Amino acid sequence: MARTAPAPLLGTDLPLVAAPMAGGPTTLDLLAATTGAGAFAFLAGGYQTPDSLADQVRRAHEGAHPFGVNLFVPATGPGPDPAALAAYARRIAPDAAAHDVDLDAVLASVPATDDDGWAAKVDLLRRDPVPVVSCTFGPPPAADVAALRATGSVVLVTVTTPQEAAAAEELGADGLVVQGPGAGGHSGTWDPARTVADGTTADAVAAVVARTPLPVVAAGGVDGPAAVTRLLQAGAQAVAVGTLLLRTDEAGTSRTHRDALADPRFTTTAMTRAFSGRPARALVNGFLTRHDAHAPVAYPQVHHLTRELRRRAAAAGDAERLHLWAGTGHRGATTGPAADVVRALAADL
Ligand SMILES: Cc1cc2nc3c(=O)[nH]c(=O)nc-3n(C[C@H](O)[C@H](O)[C@H](O)COP(=O)(O)O)c2cc1C
Repeated sequence: MARTAPAPLLGTDLPLVAAPMAGGPTTLDLLAATTGAGAFAFLAGGYQTPDSLADQVRRAHEGAHPFGVNLFVPATGPGPDPAALAAYARRIAPDAAAHDVDLDAVLASVPATDDDGWAAKVDLLRRDPVPVVSCTFGPPPAADVAALRATGSVVLVTVTTPQEAAAAEELGADGLVVQGPGAGGHSGTWDPARTVADGTTADAVAAVVARTPLPVVAAGGVDGPAAVTRLLQAGAQAVAVGTLLLRTDEAGTSRTHRDALADPRFTTTAMTRAFSGRPARALVNGFLTRHDAHAPVAYPQVHHLTRELRRRAAAAGDAERLHLWAGTGHRGATTGPAADVVRALAADL
């Protein structure tokens, strides 16, 4: 085994990162298991209330290893067209009815705006700082980046293009998470209306490091140790994995999602706005196939519109109506301890 390259940005021995996965998969146990095996790991601050995130952060501090917190940057600008949202609600109503969800009632309760508690979460991270804060879905306000850095936190911004990388440098980021199109879950694209074209994360990393000197964590499509080596060779300082951890013992992934990742019915992934109104990569299932072409650009309104339907689908084992987030490396996702995944990824380092 060759010498392991250090990851000075994150302070770990291994240049590996357990990516943040909001909505259940990231747990304190997953954080402990992956950091214990030598990786860096993020808590997923998205979707949580500020109070529950504060509690997680407090408990994560009790562990022996440094960790990060990931936040969703709220959208700015006008909200989506209510008529487009209503039309989409009519379209997906039969899927909702299959789980006894009254979509008219849900539509009436969809919030016009939702900033995911951004200000309260930034405040809590100023009161109780963590080694690293990462932000996704857009450019965080420069004043918040400065305030978080003033506490001693390293601030990373997720980018998907060299233009976003240059803008993140401008607003004071310490480093970048370069997310390639093969990544599972939501794309961090700053423009949810754009088509996230297929391509490799290595190419995305190479394009970004040619544009800015900021250190890069590469994410997206990792299916094993060879992909880690390729991304480090492309110029990344560390490599993040999400999908490969989804089936591990310590992940909080639902049973329906776990099983789908190993189900021969689901062979491919696609980028879709069908579940949330923002591009995200998922296993291709019935809901995606029926509605992808019709989904409006409306995050987080579509997320709220489909949430109860998805919750019931998960509980009922209905993988055809669940957002089965997965990256292109999903076939490499194994069961067992998360530490084994970290060790397997480090095999060629
Ligand atoms: C289930 C799931 C949830 C995710 N949630 C988040 C999140 O809360 N914040 C974030 O920045 N990225 C999120 N992502 C993206 C990951 O952080 C990471 O970029 C991606 O998993 C890397 O690609 P891979 O899945 O192919 O390894 C999520 C990915 C998955 C699969």
